[in-house]
Amino acid sequence: MNLKNDLLIRAAKGEKTERTPVWLMRQAGRILPEYRAVRESLSGFIELAKTPERAAEVTIQPVDILKVDAAIIFSDILVIPEAMGLPYEMVEKKGPSFPKVVKTAQDVEALKVADPESDLGYVIEAIKIVKKELDGRVPLIGFAGAPFTIFCYMIEGSGSKTFSKARKMLYADPELSHKLLQKITDGTIAYLKAQIAAGADLVQVFDSWAGILPPTQYSHFSTPYLAQICDAINEVPVTVFAKGAYFARAEFARLNCQTVGLDWNMDIQESRKLIGEDKTLQGNLDPCVLYGSPKQIAEATKAMLDQFGPQRHIANLGHGVYPDTDPEKVKVFIETVKEYSSK
Ligand code: CP3
Repeated sequence: MNLKNDLLIRAAKGEKTERTPVWLMRQAGRILPEYRAVRESLSGFIELAKTPERAAEVTIQPVDILKVDAAIIFSDILVIPEAMGLPYEMVEKKGPSFPKVVKTAQDVEALKVADPESDLGYVIEAIKIVKKELDGRVPLIGFAGAPFTIFCYMIEGSGSKTFSKARKMLYADPELSHKLLQKITDGTIAYLKAQIAAGADLVQVFDSWAGILPPTQYSHFSTPYLAQICDAINEVPVTVFAKGAYFARAEFARLNCQTVGLDWNMDIQESRKLIGEDKTLQGNLDPCVLYGSPKQIAEATKAMLDQFGPQRHIANLGHGVYPDTDPEKVKVFIETVKEYSSK
């Protein structure tokens, strides 16, 4: 299907764009009252994610309300552990929790490689509905967690500031760690390919906990699996976003991906030098800027756009939008990107 607005895809491929495309990580859910209304009509996040018609509805809300240049499928990175045999719960005000975690070689053995057809059909179905309802208005982004970030949740069993149980496994049993990372990677590749077959126009891999590793461990336990994913996906552009991995930027230059996401700690010019001219950069406004006045938001957004330059940039925040952000402030960010970059 032809896209009426393909700015995101052209920017990712390094083709010329008449202005900078803009979307927000975690734009679906979290900040919109319209999302909360849908969520409250169901038993919670997981039921919503598993009801394709409603998941499709909240995926499209930000396109209609915020006027972003892309939709991102409403789901979660934790559907992969669930498909491998570790179901999760979403505890109100606390976040995800896994009743069962991975501790031993037997536990790793017992996990299956995620099969998108049999275990993740609800996401694939939601993508098909979104594509039909969007009717080419904007591209649809598919996504998955990076193997290392998924590994963290499968061992730790919940969020954590340090993920020290997961990090302990890397030291205590590197071989078993690689075995688990490979199993996650194999399922993730199949899952991303299924999302693309269903209509995803670009895919993003979130390595949210990249920043907790020392650089040498990151090169050993995360980058090789990101590389496998990037090498396997040739159908659509791939974006790698590794929060906190400032130390791995030179390594990312060698990944077979089109776009690298920057968080707000990463200097833009330095990132461009390290990552090179052949990739698109995405990001990286500090999400807390959106707590400022409209004037402050507009100024910070323009300063960011000046640093990235007009091409090979996808405007976004440096991480997901915070849940208590006023949607009106988000609109100031989006409108500023559109107007200022059109000049
Ligand atoms: O970007 C989008 O809008 C699409 C949907 C999306 C969700 N999660 C929905 C969600 C995406 C892309 C994610 C990715 C995700 N999930 C990541 C990587 C991105 C990042 O922020 O670093 C991570 C680490 C998770 C795991 C996760 N899911 C946590 C820690 C939590 C609890 C805290 C939170 O974010 O609210 C979730 C829950 C979750 N995932 C919600 C949504 C809309 C909130 C659930 C609710 O409505 O109660």
